[in-house]
Amino acid sequence: MSLSELLIDTIRSKGPMTVADYMAQALGHEEYGYYMRRDPFGHKGDFITAPEISQIFGELLGAWVAAFWQQMDGGDFALVELGPGRGTLMKDILRVTAPVPDLHESMCVVMVETSPALRRMQEVTLVGAHSRIGWQPDIDDLPRMPIIVIANEFFDALPIRQFVKTPDGLQEKLVDIDPDDDSKLCFIIQEMGIRLVKGGAYSGDEVVVESSPATRTIAGDLAQHLHAFGGGGLVIDYGYAGGSRGNTLQAVKNHGFHPVLETPGEADITAHVDFDTLSDSFTEQGILTYGPVPQGTFLTRLGAEIRAESLLRNASKQQQDEIIAGLTRLVSPNEMGELFKAMSFVADEFIPAGFEPS
Ligand SMILES: C[S@@+](CC[C@H](N)C(=O)[O-])C[C@H]1O[C@@H](n2cnc3c(N)ncnc32)[C@H](O)[C@@H]1O
Repeated sequence: MSLSELLIDTIRSKGPMTVADYMAQALGHEEYGYYMRRDPFGHKGDFITAPEISQIFGELLGAWVAAFWQQMDGGDFALVELGPGRGTLMKDILRVTAPVPDLHESMCVVMVETSPALRRMQEVTLVGAHSRIGWQPDIDDLPRMPIIVIANEFFDALPIRQFVKTPDGLQEKLVDIDPDDDSKLCFIIQEMGIRLVKGGAYSGDEVVVESSPATRTIAGDLAQHLHAFGGGGLVIDYGYAGGSRGNTLQAVKNHGFHPVLETPGEADITAHVDFDTLSDSFTEQGILTYGPVPQGTFLTRLGAEIRAESLLRNASKQQQDEIIAGLTRLVSPNEMGELFKAMSFVADEFIPAGFEPS
C-alpha cells in the first residue's frame, strides 16, 4: 500500500483532512513518512542544505555558539539541535568548538530528531565527536539547565494550516479525494462559518493565509524553558517577515518542484517560515529576539569570506573552485543569501553575534 492510498482510505472514513494533518502524515507517518525511512539530502537526494554545501556554514555557527556561551558567562549548558538531518552541522560545530577552553567540558548535546533513519545516520556521523550526546524525538524533557538551540531548516518542516479569505468569510483549505479520479487527492475549500469584519479583511482576491500551530507550540515551549533556565538560540530558514505571503506550501523532489498532493511520502513538503509569528512566540514570554537578517548578511558578519580565504590557502585548484562555489551559494542574494534568514532569541540582555540592536 502507498501513503496516498492510505490517506484516501482515511479521508473516505473520516472526511477531508487539514493541510497540517496531510503535511504531518506525508513527512512523519511512521512507516511511509518522507523523513522516516530515507536520506533525502545531497546531490543524489532531493535537496541540499547549507551545512551539506560547505563546511564554512557549520564552522561559523560553531563560532557563534562559542561566542554566545561566552556572552552567557560560560557555565554548564545543553547544546540542542532541532532537526539535525545527517548530523553534518553538529559535527562541524563540535569540531570548531573543541579547542575553546572549558566549552566541551561544560556541555551536553541534545539532538531532537523524529526520524529513526536519520537518527541512525547522525549517530554514525557523530562517533567520537563528544562524550555526552543524547537523542530525543521532541523538546519535552530538555535538561533542566541553560540551553543554546540551533535550528537550520527545521521550522519549515512543521505542519501549517491554510485558510482562504473569500467574500463569504474565512474558509479552510482541506485535502479531499478528487471527485474526477478517486485514486487522487485534491484541495477543497470548506466553509468555517467565520465572517470577516465588514469592509475589513477581504481584499477582493481570494487570499491564502497560513498558520503554523506547531511553530507556536515549539517556540512557546522553548521560551518557557529559557525563562526558567536561561540561554537562547538561532533559527535559520527560508521565510518572510512583515505580513502574509499567501500560499507558500511546496513540495520538492530530485532538486525540483513537485505537485504537493502527488506521491505523498516521496517528496519533501515545506512551507516558508513566518518569522513574525516565530518572534512573537518568544517575545510574548519575555524572551528577546533579533533579526531576521538575510543569511548572506549574517554569515558575512560572522566572517564567511575570511574563513573562505583561509581555506583557499591550502586548497587544490578543484577544492578552491568548490570553496568559492559553496560560499557563493550560501551568501549570494541570488542563491540562499536573501531568501534564507537568521533570527536569534535570547533570555539575557546581550546582543548575539551577527545581529544588531532591535
Ligand atoms: C530539512 S531537514 C534539516 C536538516 C539539517 N538541519 C540540515 O541543516 O542539514 C529537517 C530535519 O528535521 C527533522 N524533523 C522534521 N520534523 C520534525 C519534528 N517535528 N521534530 C523533530 N525533527 C523533525 C527531519 O527528520 C530532518 O532531520
